[in-house]
Amino acid sequence: PLPSRVRIVEVGPRDGLQNEPVTVPTAVKVELIERLLAAGLTHIEVGSFVSARWVPQMADTAAVMARLPPNPTGRYAVLVPNLKGFEAARAARAGEVAVFASASEAFSRANINCSIAESLARFAPVAEAAREAGIPLRGYVSCVLGCPYEGMVAPEAVANVARHLMAMGCYEVSLGDTIGAGTPDQARACVAAVALVVPREQIALHFHDTRGLALANLRACLELGVSVIDAAVAGLGGCPYAKGAPGNVATEAVVAELEGLGIATGIDPGRLAEAGRFITGALGRAPA
Ligand code: HMG
Ligand code: MG
Repeated sequence: PLPSRVRIVEVGPRDGLQNEPVTVPTAVKVELIERLLAAGLTHIEVGSFVSARWVPQMADTAAVMARLPPNPTGRYAVLVPNLKGFEAARAARAGEVAVFASASEAFSRANINCSIAESLARFAPVAEAAREAGIPLRGYVSCVLGCPYEGMVAPEAVANVARHLMAMGCYEVSLGDTIGAGTPDQARACVAAVALVVPREQIALHFHDTRGLALANLRACLELGVSVIDAAVAGLGGCPYAKGAPGNVATEAVVAELEGLGIATGIDPGRLAEAGRFITGALGRAPA
């Protein structure tokens, strides 16, 4: 049965803008996030505390956070790859932090310059510090439906990383089809494998739309009882280390699809479309 309500996690300001060739000015990021809030999005990933050498587009995350309005009904989340990132996130008063692992060794190396096991070892003290600080911790697994370097990825490999992240204290694990390689059958098989080790209520879907299959893949997983979806306004997004990956699935498309299924999201499609026009205009590109 389909869920009656879906929580959308807006990742455009982070996953979208991290992959833009130009660095968007801080004021534009802040206005985008304000517009997303006005559209009813409450859980918003606003940036990352990573090496500015690796991802210069996110270098102003602390400045963005300092200018954001309060978010009383939701959370501003940031990605952190290590304790250094966590300390910066705490100083910026992040409402949530997320660590990001991969189900494929080659992608782990390319994205965060270490093996999967090393990454998990690096996240353990972050999880500990987050727990002490009372900051909710989210976990990502990348390449769950395929890797740009290794090709196929086994559902068991995804489940294994997901299990470690949950054991560390993540409240939710988000399954990333980083390069939009999956099909509905693959997506279902992956979620079914993860659901053996993680409660369905704690699984989120993070699908990139490289081949236009993200909505179909999401639909397949909703039928398995998953009810959290990551999406990016205007379909912004991608990952700088997955060449050829265009956007995350567009929040506008997800909201429309869910409405068609009679599933509540709490998001105002008109104001969401305005936020999409605002950011595509700022980027000098056609609206999604
Ligand atoms: P490294 O070079 O192995 O790290 O990078 P290091 O510890 O040797 O440090 C190198 C330099 O980075 C040092 O500075 C550190 O201080 C600095 P230097 O002495 O050379 O001047 N550094 C930092 N600076 C700021 N913040 C930090 C930090 N840590 C170290 N937290 C590292 C390892 C992880 C840092 C690097 O590889 C990195 O920053 N990677 C970021 C990759 C990234 O952001 N990728 C995109 C996000 S993941 C994604 O998009 C996928 C997702 O959407 C899900 C999906 O779609 O699948 C989540
Ligand atoms: Mg992503």
